[in-house]
Amino acid sequence: VTLISTKPILAALMRQTAARVPFWFMRQAGRYLPEYRAVRAQARDFIALCLNPKLAAEITLQPIRRYGMDAAILFADILLVPHALGCGVTFREGDGPQLEPIRDGRRIAALETSIDRIGERLSAVGETLTRVATQLDPATTLIGFAGSPWTVASYMVEGRGGHDFSQIRRMARVEQRDFSALCDVLERATIAYLRMQIDAGAEVIQLFDTWSGVLPSDEFERWCIAPTKRIVAALKASHAAIPIIGFPRLAGANLEAYVRHTGIDGVGLDPTVPLDWAGQNLQPRVTLQGNLDPLLLTLGGDEMERCTRRIIAAWSQGPFIFNLGHGITPDVSPDHVARLSNLVRNVHLS
Ligand code: CP3
Repeated sequence: VTLISTKPILAALMRQTAARVPFWFMRQAGRYLPEYRAVRAQARDFIALCLNPKLAAEITLQPIRRYGMDAAILFADILLVPHALGCGVTFREGDGPQLEPIRDGRRIAALETSIDRIGERLSAVGETLTRVATQLDPATTLIGFAGSPWTVASYMVEGRGGHDFSQIRRMARVEQRDFSALCDVLERATIAYLRMQIDAGAEVIQLFDTWSGVLPSDEFERWCIAPTKRIVAALKASHAAIPIIGFPRLAGANLEAYVRHTGIDGVGLDPTVPLDWAGQNLQPRVTLQGNLDPLLLTLGGDEMERCTRRIIAAWSQGPFIFNLGHGITPDVSPDHVARLSNLVRNVHLS
C-alpha cells in the first residue's frame, strides 16, 4: 500500500499530484533576513554558528515562521565536510570561504584517517536537525544536504570558490590518481555525514553540485554522474525510502544523462534550463524543482510574477516543486519573498 504523504514536498517527490504547488527556496535562511543577522552576531564566526544547534535550529525555522514554505532546509554549509576533515576552512566577511589548498597525494592520504570520525565531528548538525524536527508543523518537510564531491573538491583544491577552476581541472586531467583519491575521501565522508543526518531527522536529502557546469563534457560522467550515483545507491541501501534531489547547476545538455543514470528522485534546475525541454525530457523520469532566476526575486514586481506563472504553467502538470534556480542573494527584500510565497501558495491547479 502506498500512503499518500501529508507533506506536499514528499508527495511531489513520490510523483503524487497535488492541488497546489509545493515550494521552498534555496538559501531561504540567510543575510537578507534581519532576524538572521541578529542571531549571526551572537556567534564567534560562521562555522561556530553552523555548529551551534540552538542557533542553527532557530535560523532554520526563521523563514518558515515568516513565509510558511513547505520545507525547512537545515542551516549548515557544504564546507563543514572539509572543515571536519581538518582543511582549515574560514569565512571572512564579504570575502567568501577560504581553505588551505590541497593538491598533493600525501595530504590527501592524511584526510582518510578522519572519515570514520565525520559523524562524531559533525554531530552538532544532527542535533540541529533533531531540534528542528520537534518544532516543525507536520506538513513541513525537513531537508538535509551536502555538497557533491566535485563541488566540495573545487573549494579544497582551489582554496576558494567560483574563480577559474584551473587547478582542479588540471588535477582532474593529469593527476587522476590523486584527484580520484580526494573524490573518494569526499564520497565516503559525504555518505557517512548524510546517513547521520537522516538518522537525526532529515526527510529529504539535496546534493548541491553548484560547479558541475565547469566540467568538460568528456569528464562529466566520471566526476559528476558516477559519484552521485554511488552516493544515491549507498543512501538508499541504508535508508530505502529517502528521497534525494540532485542539483547539478549549469549542467546543460548533460542533465539528461544525469537524470537517467544517477537514481535521484528530483532534479534542481538552474534558470538557464528551458521550460519545455525539461518538461518533455526530464519530468517523465524525475520531479522537477526550480527554476526562477534569483535576480527576479531581487527585482520583485510584475516581471517576477509573470516568470513565476510561466514556470508553474509549464511544469505543474507533472511532479514539481517550485524553487529558485539558485540561492536567494543577500540584497533581496523580505517583502519580495512574501509576495512570491503568497503567489505560489495561491495558484490552485485544476
Ligand atoms: O539554504 C539555506 O538557507 C541553508 C543554508 C545553506 C548555506 N549554505 C548557508 C550559508 C546552504 C544550503 C548552503 C550551501 C552552500 N554553501 C553551497 C551550495 C549552494 C549554492 O549556493 O551554490 C555553496 C557553494 C556553499 C559555500 C559557501 N558558503 C559560500 C560560497 C559562501 C559565501 C557566500 C556569500 O554570500 O558570502 C558560504 C557562506 C554561507 N553559507 C552564508 C550562509 C547563510 C553566508 C555567511 C554569513 O552569514 O556570513
